[in-house]
Amino acid sequence: MPRMVHAKRKILVTSALPYANGPIHLGHLVEYVQTDIWVRFQKMRGHDCHYVCADDAHGTPIMLRAQKEGIEPAALVARMGREHLRDFTDFGIGFDNYGSTDSAENRDLVTQMYTRLRAAGHIRTRTIQQAYDPVKNMFLPDRFIRGTCPRCGAPDQYGDSCEVCGATYSPTELKNPVSAISGATPVQKESEHYFFRLGDFEATLRSWLFPDITQARHVQAEVANKLDEWFSVGLQDWDISRDAPYFGFEIPDAPGKYFYVWLDAPVGYMASFQQLCQRRGLDFDAYWKPDAGSELYHFIGKDILYFHALFWPAMLEGAGFRKPTAVFAHGFLTVNGQKMSKSRGTFINARTYLDHLNPEYLRYYFASKLGPHVEDIDLNLDDFTARVNSDLVGKYVNIASRAAGLLHRHFGGAIAAPGPASTAARQEVIEGALAAAGRIGEAYEERRFGIVVRETMALADSLNQWWDRCRPWELSRRFAQPAQTDDNDTLHAVCSAALEGFRILSLYLKPVLPKLARDAERFLGLPEQGWDDLVVALPAGHHINPYQHLATRIEPKQVQSMLASPGENATMTTDTTAAAPQTAEAVKPEITIDDFAKVDLRVARIVRAGQVDGADKLLQLTVDLGDGRMRNIFAGIRAAYVPADLEGRLTVVVANLAPRRMKFGISEGMVLAAGPGGKDLWILSPDSGAEPGMRIK
Ligand code: MSP
Ligand code: ZN
Repeated sequence: MPRMVHAKRKILVTSALPYANGPIHLGHLVEYVQTDIWVRFQKMRGHDCHYVCADDAHGTPIMLRAQKEGIEPAALVARMGREHLRDFTDFGIGFDNYGSTDSAENRDLVTQMYTRLRAAGHIRTRTIQQAYDPVKNMFLPDRFIRGTCPRCGAPDQYGDSCEVCGATYSPTELKNPVSAISGATPVQKESEHYFFRLGDFEATLRSWLFPDITQARHVQAEVANKLDEWFSVGLQDWDISRDAPYFGFEIPDAPGKYFYVWLDAPVGYMASFQQLCQRRGLDFDAYWKPDAGSELYHFIGKDILYFHALFWPAMLEGAGFRKPTAVFAHGFLTVNGQKMSKSRGTFINARTYLDHLNPEYLRYYFASKLGPHVEDIDLNLDDFTARVNSDLVGKYVNIASRAAGLLHRHFGGAIAAPGPASTAARQEVIEGALAAAGRIGEAYEERRFGIVVRETMALADSLNQWWDRCRPWELSRRFAQPAQTDDNDTLHAVCSAALEGFRILSLYLKPVLPKLARDAERFLGLPEQGWDDLVVALPAGHHINPYQHLATRIEPKQVQSMLASPGENATMTTDTTAAAPQTAEAVKPEITIDDFAKVDLRVARIVRAGQVDGADKLLQLTVDLGDGRMRNIFAGIRAAYVPADLEGRLTVVVANLAPRRMKFGISEGMVLAAGPGGKDLWILSPDSGAEPGMRIK
């Protein structure tokens, strides 16, 4: 059969940039898995497809978190970026470049974009009133103001909405407002802000969002309907500046004013791609010029549509760049039918999952539920277990293990030569499997991954049924060697065809299960396969390797221990915009001053910090208490700190704690830290001026 020839497309794909102030969780992964599957499919088809992403580094929450940890925002961002990329990589997400919005490339591009928008008259300034924290001396984003809900009277609600009754309001309506940072009562203060005149782009946006029926859509139909409502309300100016102190890029010619994080975030797509261009010698303009013949796709969640379907295309248009070919929005993840929740233990971090389960199983499950619409998808953990076990282990991998066993037992692992039996098998199962290529390819292209999974599993069912009808185990029992009977030929042909079928299924599933498919290729003795290799059958006489298990069943207890994983799921910041005040722990029984005096608290310098082999929660610290003797302390803070961030820092230790023998050595003291645990843990740092050895009284 001739190889298929396609026109080569140039495609640039992005996923939304995760905030640098929290860990990656399973909700995020819906998006990165969805995008990655689509990208892998395009690459397998031989297109020039590039997938870029970055950490979204700027903004108030990051700035405050860095302050709390006593480190520079840049150091925090670097650490989070490393963690995020590690999580993504372990889930098989294959970014071509992973950058940060706090990069030189982004600064240059944002500046260029802003300067062009300003020159074209799309920026104006206006003085506004805003809540100000008189103690912390900073303006307060709505989410950093807490108070009593003006509608239902619930205490301790956010400045913009009530979690109890769902009301939304402006922070000035909140009763008894306090700053979530300092506890002070906010005052109203004036400041000049910079605005992007979104209304200037009404006509452009309308024709981009609502093309006539002869033209391709840029957003999903349901998204266009939603956006229509926003047009009827009228396109408002967009406030793009924030006052110092702010972690971000300063606005040119506006000292003390910074770009709002959401202005430079989408530009981060371009900046990350620019890094890729530098590394790979690609032509940046070929992807970003208005008439570029390339395609640009943004995968995003439904919560950030406003930014991607209104502000972003308007900014691109105004600054003389191309607009996206399409923005693909997806819904939100629920776990067991409900919003992910810390208290139910269903708020699962990527890392927690990885500690217990195979990442490709989640990719498979998400794929089985993903379609082109903005629908929420549910991770039902019982269904997840059942489906993976029955589909991947029971149907797909099972074919390979059964066929390879017999092929090795009787035929030295070699694929059968052509003959009547092979031809029959080909007609009965292989042709049908190949014929699905068009449907499956189309389903991938249209992001109907649920259909991909269903089609492929239907083929696996037919293959298994056909195998059973052929009764190869009976042929094997009667196997007469060395005489070549017809039965032997049939057995050989059946095993070979089953493995050929397995090869085809593996190829169909490869964008979803890149690692499992690659393992399958190795087992079949094949090099890396592309979509065109579909029609290249395993040749006669080709040797496949003995079967080694490719996928193991999920045991329900693995899921249970993931959910029960101590600390992890319950403690990370989920809120991406605010540092939510910690819920208070109950105070321990009263002690006397004498009890307190027994505890000898000292300032210590962390001279060395390192990981402890075999202990994923501990760091080993060498601390100096100023008495000329180094002490060794094991601290359960590994999730919160990388060693390099600790070395040289001052902290507070309990100096007179009896030494404790631990599995890894003797711990001679205790480091004081605050926070619920896991990643949200801050070791105490005395103010500057403190010296090792000073007693804390
Ligand atoms: N930093 C912004 C995006 C800037 S893009 C220029 C942001 N970050 S985020 O970390 O909150 O979310 C990153 C992506 O993950 C978003 O597309 C968001 O919709 C998606 N998800 C976050 N939680 C999710 C679920 N629970 N379910 C599905 N997707 C979710 O938004
Ligand atoms: Zn309320």
